[in-house]
Amino acid sequence: MCGIVGYLGPQDAVPILLEGLARLEHRGYDSAGLAVLTDAGAVRVAKRAGRVRDLAAGLPKRFAGHLGIGHTRWATHGPATDANAHPHTDASGRVAVVHNGILDNAATLRARLAERGVPLTSDTDTEVLAHLVAAATADTLEEKVRQALGQVEGTWGLAVLHADHPGEIVVACNGSPLILGVGNGEMYVASDLAALVRHTTRVVMLEDGELATVTADGFTTSTGKGAQEIDVDPDSYEAGDHESFMRKEISEQPSAAESVLRGRLDERFGTTHLGGLNLDARESRAVRRVKILGCGSSYYVGQMGAGLIEELARVPADAEPASEFRYRNPIIELDTLYVAVSQSGETVDTLLAVQEIRRKGGRVIGLVNVVGSAIARACDGGIYLHAGPEVAVASTKALTNMFLGFALLALQLGRVRDLSVADGRRLVAALEQLPGKMKEVLDTEPQIAEIARELSRAESLFFVGRVRGYPVAREGAQKFKEITYRHAEAYPTSELKHGPLALIAPEVPTVAIVPADELTERNIGALHEIAARGGPLVVVTHPEVDLTGLDVRRIDVPRSEVELDPVLLTIPLQLLAYHAAQELGLDIDKPRNLAKSVTVE
Ligand code: F6R
Repeated sequence: MCGIVGYLGPQDAVPILLEGLARLEHRGYDSAGLAVLTDAGAVRVAKRAGRVRDLAAGLPKRFAGHLGIGHTRWATHGPATDANAHPHTDASGRVAVVHNGILDNAATLRARLAERGVPLTSDTDTEVLAHLVAAATADTLEEKVRQALGQVEGTWGLAVLHADHPGEIVVACNGSPLILGVGNGEMYVASDLAALVRHTTRVVMLEDGELATVTADGFTTSTGKGAQEIDVDPDSYEAGDHESFMRKEISEQPSAAESVLRGRLDERFGTTHLGGLNLDARESRAVRRVKILGCGSSYYVGQMGAGLIEELARVPADAEPASEFRYRNPIIELDTLYVAVSQSGETVDTLLAVQEIRRKGGRVIGLVNVVGSAIARACDGGIYLHAGPEVAVASTKALTNMFLGFALLALQLGRVRDLSVADGRRLVAALEQLPGKMKEVLDTEPQIAEIARELSRAESLFFVGRVRGYPVAREGAQKFKEITYRHAEAYPTSELKHGPLALIAPEVPTVAIVPADELTERNIGALHEIAARGGPLVVVTHPEVDLTGLDVRRIDVPRSEVELDPVLLTIPLQLLAYHAAQELGLDIDKPRNLAKSVTVE
């Protein structure tokens, strides 16, 4: 959701900025733009609604400079039009600003500017920043930007260039990431490492509230912070031989799972080592309740995690969308362990929920994939997910690792309570075998693809499951609707006859999660009820489940220990969504209207 790039150095900035923007496309956007400071000292802007490739194709002649900023915008204030695309400039056209985040008092500031006769040319909040910087009276550009930011409320990652201050870009960060990349006699700016790693692995991740002045030769940050070398493989940001990032990331799940488990399993005591939690055994025992907060698919995995924690630790646990939690003046209990779960570590609803809990004295740990991200930094401790960069909008490998993160946490909370060492060892052994079993699921892809092609013809589908299987069904429906644009609705199987059964018909298939567990017989009963009404069935199940007498398309996954089954049952649903979307010829990595990181409320 919105991306920023910047460059200063001896090369022409334009191709570098365009390439950087292309690498940020996965974040989701609907317009793009560039501003450069020409060698003659003028600010030139090119921006338009549409793709980065449209922007590149329509650039005016001799649009070049050694210093520039670029942006991909995901519309919030005002529709996706050329005028609303960033960069935004002041009335004189000497200041250009790109901005991620939201300015909460933009309406007031716009009204004030209008009263002063300042012409506003867009519907955006960002435009006010360009006018405020232009009106600032300080001597340096950094101080001008600081003065402007003193008048706004909200969140920002931003970059500013000014014709009166050639040779520098000023950047600032507050709740939206901003990273500097240090090159050899050249500097880069980006909101996401994906845009930097091909150029440099020496970076500075700005803290909230920090500003920096960047020149071709280096930078100064307002906190005096220096650069660090990051250990990242630039190829992990490329799709390589895969036809899409989602396809690649689905196939990476076994190795991603190995990474999150590595060094954390204790076979002897049947427990886990999670140093980053900052929670000793006594503090763990004092936890009376666990509350998990996340958004979208991260919330659904949070529901799986709550189930695991209740089963293994016998501590009441539940999950709630962070986006709802923070608006209902939540009661924060000091003996509740709050868990924020996020792939990006940027989701603003989850971040603000964490800040609200901590403001009220609660303890929050994070299950986060992106190291050093805003949510990771805002928590008291946590478990990094080590899934590697996830580029596709539809989350897959990060979710798998979230589940495993919850399994590690549940095991630890269980083992300081009543979970026996024998049960602990049983689960540790099962966790060690999971990557291999994930490979077995992936090996059934051709059969799943065939079923997916059939499902792609349905306008509307149900996904159903019970207890451990219900969040699996929710996540399956989510993935299916996100990338196929088909209506896919999840229900607890037990609830079917309380309403949705009315919709079951030959043209409405149901994908049912039927593991071999204490509920198998009841689940099979529900399958018969669906079949009796002519509803086509796809059943994701275990080999020993007997479905004789039912006409179903069946997908078998290997069994694990019953508590860990949800993660293996989820993988075929990713493949169903993927192959259905492929059959429909859709742009799988860039589903319409969606963004990878939802940094606005
Ligand atoms: C679904 C999906 C979204 C995210 C949600 C939270 O495939 O990717 O529903 O799960 O936007 O994002 P994070 O985990 O980055 O906080």
